[in-house]
Amino acid sequence: MDIRAGRLEKEMTKNAAEFTSSLGFDHYIFDADVECNIAHTSMLKEEDIIDKDVADKIIKTLNELKEEGFEALTFDYAVEDIHMAVENYVTDKIGDIAGFMHTAKSRNDQVATDIRLALKIKVREIQKSILSFMEGLVETAREHKETIIVGYTHLQHAQPVTFAHHLMAYAQSLKRDYERLEDTYKRVNINPLGSAAMATTTFPINRETTTNLLGFDSYMENSMDGVSARDFIAETVFDLTMLTTNLSKICEELVLWSSYEFSLIEISDEFSSTSSIMPQKKNPDVAEVARSKCAIINGNLVTVLTILKAIPYTYNRDLQELTPHLWNACESSHDILNIVKDMTLSIKVFNGRGIELAESNFATATDLADLMVKEKSIPFRVAHEIVGKVVNEAFDNCIMLDNINSDFINRISVDIIGEELNLSNESIRKALDPVENVKLRNIPGGPSPEMVEIACKN
Ligand code: ARG
Repeated sequence: MDIRAGRLEKEMTKNAAEFTSSLGFDHYIFDADVECNIAHTSMLKEEDIIDKDVADKIIKTLNELKEEGFEALTFDYAVEDIHMAVENYVTDKIGDIAGFMHTAKSRNDQVATDIRLALKIKVREIQKSILSFMEGLVETAREHKETIIVGYTHLQHAQPVTFAHHLMAYAQSLKRDYERLEDTYKRVNINPLGSAAMATTTFPINRETTTNLLGFDSYMENSMDGVSARDFIAETVFDLTMLTTNLSKICEELVLWSSYEFSLIEISDEFSSTSSIMPQKKNPDVAEVARSKCAIINGNLVTVLTILKAIPYTYNRDLQELTPHLWNACESSHDILNIVKDMTLSIKVFNGRGIELAESNFATATDLADLMVKEKSIPFRVAHEIVGKVVNEAFDNCIMLDNINSDFINRISVDIIGEELNLSNESIRKALDPVENVKLRNIPGGPSPEMVEIACKN
């Protein structure tokens, strides 16, 4: 059937039809659309709104289409979208009685329902991959609870931690990404079907039935909201931009850490490239491409919000143009997630390098100041100044961490507070030792092996 036959006298130009068609991206909602039609027709039958034999024929044909798949549809540019293509398929098989399937239904509530159905599956798939990455991180962290590395602030050496503690920081951010999607899922899982064009229908439809048949939690309470609400799309795309932003930060660190200057890790060959001219090169291309693909998803989010911001209630065709951005965000973020997971879980860690860095640049200085507070009861701010000067003087005179002793500190403390601190050399050694440093940070959330084990269990 041609929906233009009644009201319109002329065909759309080929360009206009192609310009406005959603067929190029409707394959994402093909399965959902067939399910939606089956559920709706079953409900129409159950409520005696359409003839039972007609309903059975429609449902049987829709089931055949499900078997045959998307390719069985006819894609003429004049067919506006998947909903018309599906109805045309049924009409071709059983004749004009197929038209009963559109009773009390509009493409407006149908497309909103289809997107939600298809999105539920995608969100669950992404969540599953997040969990698997988290599990891999926990497993790797358990192997590195004693592997000292230096932690950074401002990309300057800050304090020693362990590689495990750092990986568990990644795991925590992924946990929040998972939870955000879990929360969003609740708002995706609501059924707009029954809203019809925007004001429901006078047919006695049963919205509970289609809600149950399609596996939604509940139905949308306002039909105008039902056909026009797309905040669930914006929300999902935001969740995915946050996820990929977190993944991009991981990529950034792997790129840095695998550089000669850091030499903390090696990215495995499977995720590296080389140069066509420089034979020595091993380049972290996967991490780099992942970093930039995240930018496209950020663009998807801005596009979605910009399309939504000035749309009057209720349905406007602008809404159609949101969906390619949603599907790109879903697929691209899932690809990024999987590749970053595989790459991160296959890195080789150079065990000795982390401690070398942690010992070479006064990353344990905070603990020397803490020692003065604990043993000599001087205010932390004063201890901070003394240690700052100790470090300065050590740098000026090329004195290494190992050579900082009680006499050296006394000379500086006399300058600043007019007295010798007389810390024992043994306690100084202990305070400045990165391994001790980490062990002593045995506070919930801290890097000690004991605390990291607790974090791994949670
Ligand atoms: N392709 C459209 C979309 O994705 C179908 C929905 C209704 N179309 C319409 N012209 N009212 O939004």
